Amino acid sequence: MINKVGIIGSGTMGSGIAQVAATSGCKVKLYDTNQAALDKAKSALEKILARLVEKGRIDSAEKNRIQTNISYSDSLKDLSDSDLTIEAIVENLEIKKKVFSELESYVSDECIIASNTSSLSIASIAASLQKPERCIGIHFFNPAPLMQLVEVIPAIQTSKEVLDKSVKIISDWKKTVAIAKDTPGFIVNRVARPFYSEALRIYEEGIADFETIDRSMKTLGGFRMGPFELMDFIGNDVNYTVTETVFAAFYFDPRYKPAFTQKRFAEAGYLGRKSGKGYYNYDENGSIVPQ
Ligand code: NAI
Repeated sequence: MINKVGIIGSGTMGSGIAQVAATSGCKVKLYDTNQAALDKAKSALEKILARLVEKGRIDSAEKNRIQTNISYSDSLKDLSDSDLTIEAIVENLEIKKKVFSELESYVSDECIIASNTSSLSIASIAASLQKPERCIGIHFFNPAPLMQLVEVIPAIQTSKEVLDKSVKIISDWKKTVAIAKDTPGFIVNRVARPFYSEALRIYEEGIADFETIDRSMKTLGGFRMGPFELMDFIGNDVNYTVTETVFAAFYFDPRYKPAFTQKRFAEAGYLGRKSGKGYYNYDENGSIVPQ
């Protein structure tokens, strides 16, 4: 039985995954090296749950239960009693490997060590562990509490037992599992690359502006969000890194080539909703400010 869950990284994804696990009754420890990120995660959860109470989706007892199921820490050691850990830190292989190898020195031999990476090879992350068979990709989508799908990605080293357990846990958390092979971008992020890249090329070729492209895809394409809104929502830093990783991992296949616009936005710190400015400007509630 999985009861204690450690989440590494309390940003957009880590805080959302913590909410999912805590709502399902798990005791969650949310860890980050950045105290401001931990404080932000805590106050964001308070706001989200208060809104759910207002809308009558949960009562205040449920809100308290979810909140008390999550504790916050700036020490990785505090995750030592976890049955499962899910890492959601910066999309950088070397940093992830370092954290995984330190984490393994604290947790029990039975603890499953998962990564929420969007694009990195699970096999290379697993290789940083003494027991690589316990490593797996568990890839949530943003926002984790709302998005139904979770990709589960066994590396070639992952044991069948760890795969089966992971599928069961995610199903118990009321999510739909898609098992994917350990290949760049897995399923959804691979299909999504040309959605962003072609939109960026259309913009760079001067065919249409951001708003027109987004409006067209929503009105005629049936998408809930246009490509530029979605890139801002994901974070232009995170999305650019994923594009670069997928491009390199496919041996520089031009189908996955990143666009300069995307690179410049990431470099300028125009990260999207989380920084208040991206392809659109955002107010403090994350709503688009008309230009
Ligand atoms: P984020 O930038 O919102 O949060 C990352 C957090 O990790 C920050 O709070 C940062 O302080 C913390 N951190 C960085 N290095 C750390 C370390 N060494 N130890 C502990 N904490 C550290 O990033 P986001 O968007 O939550 O992405 C996290 C991971 O999830 C990435 O691997 C990303 O590819 C993946 N992902 C992102 C999605 C998205 O839509 N943003 C969707 C699905 C996966």
